[in-house]
Amino acid sequence: MIYIDERDNCKYALVEYWYERYKSEKEYDWLGDYNNFKHLIHKHIDNKQAKILMVGCGNSKLSQSMFLDGYQSIVSTDISEVCIKNQKEAFPHLAWEVADITDLKQFQDGQFDAVIEKATLDSLLVEEKSPWTPSEEAKSLIDSAMSEISRVLKSKQGIFLSLSFAQPHFREPYFAKEKYDWSVRNETFGGCFSYYCYVMTRGEPLDDQVYVTTSVGVSKVTINNSDSVNSSSSSSSCDEEFMSKIDFSLEEEEQEEPPSENLSKLDLNV
Ligand SMILES: C[S@@+](CC[C@H](N)C(=O)[O-])C[C@H]1O[C@@H](n2cnc3c(N)ncnc32)[C@H](O)[C@@H]1O
Repeated sequence: MIYIDERDNCKYALVEYWYERYKSEKEYDWLGDYNNFKHLIHKHIDNKQAKILMVGCGNSKLSQSMFLDGYQSIVSTDISEVCIKNQKEAFPHLAWEVADITDLKQFQDGQFDAVIEKATLDSLLVEEKSPWTPSEEAKSLIDSAMSEISRVLKSKQGIFLSLSFAQPHFREPYFAKEKYDWSVRNETFGGCFSYYCYVMTRGEPLDDQVYVTTSVGVSKVTINNSDSVNSSSSSSSCDEEFMSKIDFSLEEEEQEEPPSENLSKLDLNV
């Protein structure tokens, strides 16, 4: 066993960690099971014949639950060979493939009606010291993943659903780029703790209001209109298991309302 020190959430970013974990763990659903967000899947993927790609599927029951719910064409992928081997044995009637979310080379442009990820991007970002100031490595990693997901989606109305504990002001800047050619919206689900379902729709324009995280805090700004930027600052704490181990309380306490004259200088390129 190479389970790394439990106090160190960085282990979730290591491929080796997932290889070892899946040798013994048979089933685990991050952010809850299908029943928690089934209504959102139905709402955004209303065609049960839709071709769906699941990225970073892990040993979650999500693909099997969706299959039992009538979704007939799901390809489930993960970077862990052990995981995919186990899933194939457990659910031989479903399609399983080893694939890296940042390099989906075995899939063609526009092959899927929908892509779903649940807590995969979260695990890729756990090494970040602070969600307020993402590293260049994190930005590049997520950019590769988003470029690949956008590429394999149908260019008209292809849907990317990203289920996450990360709040919109931290996560939306990763999604809100014109080059992915999709709109970005979010909905919440869950019980006492809210999780987020980010909904990206290919071929729709980006809203002009997006969250931007900068060194001076978090603002909701209007893009493409530098003369009349609107903003409202916000911050709050996160509640997920591994996110709770990241200390960003200091940064939050220091957040101030950004002076409006500085807003035109905000860096929209997360
Ligand atoms: C937090 S788990 C989530 C598993 C599952 N989606 C769920 O909701 O329970 C993260 C998963 O991402 C996978 N993963 C990590 N890096 C990946 C990558 N670059 N490409 C594809 N999958 C990756 C891990 O092997 C692991 O199964």
